Amino acid sequence: MSLIFPKWLNALPTLAAIGAVGGLIGVSVGGWYWLTPDFFKAGYQPKQPGGIGFPHHLHAGKLGIDCRYCHTKVEKSGEANIPNVATCYGCHAENRLANWEAQTRNVSFVRDAYGKDESIPWRRVHKLPDYVHNFPHHVHVKAGVSCFSCHGQITAMPTVHQVHGMGMGWCLDCHRNPAASLVPPDKVTQLVWVEEHLKERARTGGADSPEAKALLASLKNQPPQNCGACHY
Ligand code: HEC
Ligand code: HEC
Ligand code: HEC
Ligand code: HEC
Ligand code: HEC
Repeated sequence: MSLIFPKWLNALPTLAAIGAVGGLIGVSVGGWYWLTPDFFKAGYQPKQPGGIGFPHHLHAGKLGIDCRYCHTKVEKSGEANIPNVATCYGCHAENRLANWEAQTRNVSFVRDAYGKDESIPWRRVHKLPDYVHNFPHHVHVKAGVSCFSCHGQITAMPTVHQVHGMGMGWCLDCHRNPAASLVPPDKVTQLVWVEEHLKERARTGGADSPEAKALLASLKNQPPQNCGACHY
């Protein structure tokens, strides 16, 4: 008997049941996937004011302005902020920069908004669904998670687009294994350094390298995996 009906056959009903549940999950995940608006997807890049919007590659890249010059609250508050038009006008007022006239066509939307005392209608790029109630920027930044790990190489982007899908699996992948992404907290806004450094570390031990282990040990709290931490 045992030769004709090998033992593993006994497991068949269980496998079939798992298959059925797996199918259901597949359907619902597929449904969620197809229902997910473009807004939440990697690659999302809305059209910004002025056509080109805010060229990070010039300001944060070529000119090397630190992220916190504009995103002033990113280390102090759960929400990162977008700078107001006065921050732009400080450099882009008429007569301010040597080549201010040559820039007029591309920065007129800045001067117009300032003149009318209006804010620039930036279109939001990254947005979590409302049922994710807790995403604290400052906790991540202070722990040594770089902007690069979540937003990609912003210093090279003429217009910001979303690099990662930012779904639940993405958050949890890092929360289960944060060591691979941690850098010294004073380096989090040096995106070019971080990209090179993390690449080099991946070649030389990754999460098991002495530096990654030391950074992990220095965290005050381990990243949470309980539902309530992000959903309540
Ligand atoms: C001179 C000001 C300035 C500097 C410096 C700056 N940013 Fe920005 N940033 C902006 C403005 C204005 C926007 C809104 C327009 C847009 O989304 O492109 C923005 C948008 C963003 C967004 C997208 C926000 C959204 O809607 O989801 C991210 C992410 C971002 N910046 C990250 C960075 C990082 C990382 C750095 C440093 C490497 C940096 N920024 C430096 C002004 C600045
Ligand atoms: C610290 C000074 C400074 C601040 C603050 C600043 N810019 Fe600029 N911006 C510059 C300089 C300098 C250039 C020219 C860079 C180059 O071409 O090498 C420039 C270039 C630009 C250009 C491209 C102009 C062209 O002709 O291609 C745009 C658009 C622009 N800035 C928008 C903004 C906006 C919007 C803000 C506010 C969120 C802002 N800038 C804040 C200094 C600044
Ligand atoms: C751990 C991942 C992570 C890190 C690290 C991170 N961000 Fe974000 N960022 C996000 C997520 C997720 C959102 C969307 C938040 C939401 O919808 O509440 C976001 C949104 C933003 C926004 C848009 C805020 C708004 O109100 O329009 C800006 C600007 C921003 N981040 C800048 C930065 C800068 C600058 C850094 C580095 C100093 C940084 N972020 C580090 C994940 C991250
Ligand atoms: C690249 C790594 C990384 C990613 C991606 C990431 N996190 Fe975290 N997160 C961390 C680390 C590290 C900590 C622990 C920080 C600490 O407490 O020192 C943390 C802590 C947290 C905490 C606890 C905050 C507190 O007050 O203790 C929340 C909530 C959280 N993350 C939410 C999220 C959500 C939501 C996402 C996805 C949108 C996300 N995280 C994506 C690394 C990450
Ligand atoms: C580290 C933060 C974090 C934790 C912990 C977490 N979630 Fe989520 N969850 C998210 C984010 C972010 C999304 C949004 C996904 C998207 O935009 O596609 C999400 C989405 C969901 C959804 C919507 C469907 C889906 O899969 O996208 C459900 C249901 C859900 N979470 C349940 C849970 C349960 C149950 C737990 C505990 C076992 C949990 N979550 C733990 C961050 C978290």
